[in-house]
Amino acid sequence: MAKQFGLNEFASRITQKNTHPSPSEKRTVLITGCSAGGIGHALAKEFHSRGIYPSERVFATARRLESMSELQKLGITTLKLDVTRIESICEVRDQVNLMTGGTLDILVNNATENLMAVSDMDMDAARSIFEVNLYGALSMIHEFVQLLIASGDGRIAHIGSIAGIFPLPFSAPYNSSKAAIHALSNTLRVELAPFKQVSLLLTGGVKSNISRPLSLPEDSIYKSIEQTLLQKRVGISQVTALPTAQYAIRVVTELSKPNPRAWFWLGDKSFLCWIFDTFLWKTSLVCFLTYVLDLISWYTCSGWDFH
Ligand SMILES: NC(=O)c1ccc[n+]([C@@H]2O[C@H](COP(=O)([O-])OP(=O)(O)OC[C@H]3O[C@@H](n4cnc5c(N)ncnc54)[C@H](OP(=O)(O)O)[C@@H]3O)[C@@H](O)[C@H]2O)c1
Repeated sequence: MAKQFGLNEFASRITQKNTHPSPSEKRTVLITGCSAGGIGHALAKEFHSRGIYPSERVFATARRLESMSELQKLGITTLKLDVTRIESICEVRDQVNLMTGGTLDILVNNATENLMAVSDMDMDAARSIFEVNLYGALSMIHEFVQLLIASGDGRIAHIGSIAGIFPLPFSAPYNSSKAAIHALSNTLRVELAPFKQVSLLLTGGVKSNISRPLSLPEDSIYKSIEQTLLQKRVGISQVTALPTAQYAIRVVTELSKPNPRAWFWLGDKSFLCWIFDTFLWKTSLVCFLTYVLDLISWYTCSGWDFH
């Protein structure tokens, strides 16, 4: 079980805040969702390659150990972790606690699930998105917070998404779970202010496995425009996406700074989203996406009657 803290230790931790360890000092990082081809995998490799994070100190986790075999060959510690199962989280917490002597410097909540249109989805699948994306992240923080406090310079990084702001159609549960992560990051930054820094990576398009091939159910109201719809949807996310390795370099560089940014926009279309979010009216993104995707004319071509 992780160490608990009394008032004196609490005060001493506050005074230690923002004292970044020297580059030669060993630091530890745990990342969720590190399967090959995704962002977590690239982050684990990048942290490992920096040298300031020795191999035995990067904990890459995923539901399937075989999906991290490349990381294991590099010498990175790979651990099996399903963020929706509290027993799995506690097991990993206890292993990390033993291997590090009771501390963790950086927790990266990265694991995710995605889905399609609200009208087509199964509600259990929609709930499972929140189980991974929101409750998984909350459980990880709850179980690892003592180890992060013990670090003296603990950091939490959430891989957020411009989808939490950008109203990307056909992924409403994912988008709303990401918006919840943004709110969680902001709240934690206040609530945990004496102990640690919380960073939100507002991620745009990055090459990964996130847009898996999908087919719509036979009774989907979008069935007649299925191919165009899927091509456009995957296109928005992946065609001009930032290579995963480049994304990982930028993120690890940011998280290694003495004071990483609280909100860090990165990835394809993240700048565009920032412009809309910062300078334009709240429904400007709705107007923009409706226009770009041209959904209304698709519906009309497909014989939809709106009246
Ligand atoms: N790629 C983008 O364009 C993009 C854009 C914005 C934000 N993001 C964010 O980036 C992060 C990484 O996503 P990605 O693009 O790398 O997608 P990805 O390639 O699909 O990776 C998702 C990872 O989460 C894991 N995962 C799913 N359910 C899990 C669970 N219950 N417990 C533990 N791990 C679980 C997956 O494991 P399995 O392999 O076992 O399924 C996989 O390792 C996510 O937070 C996502 O929202 C990505």
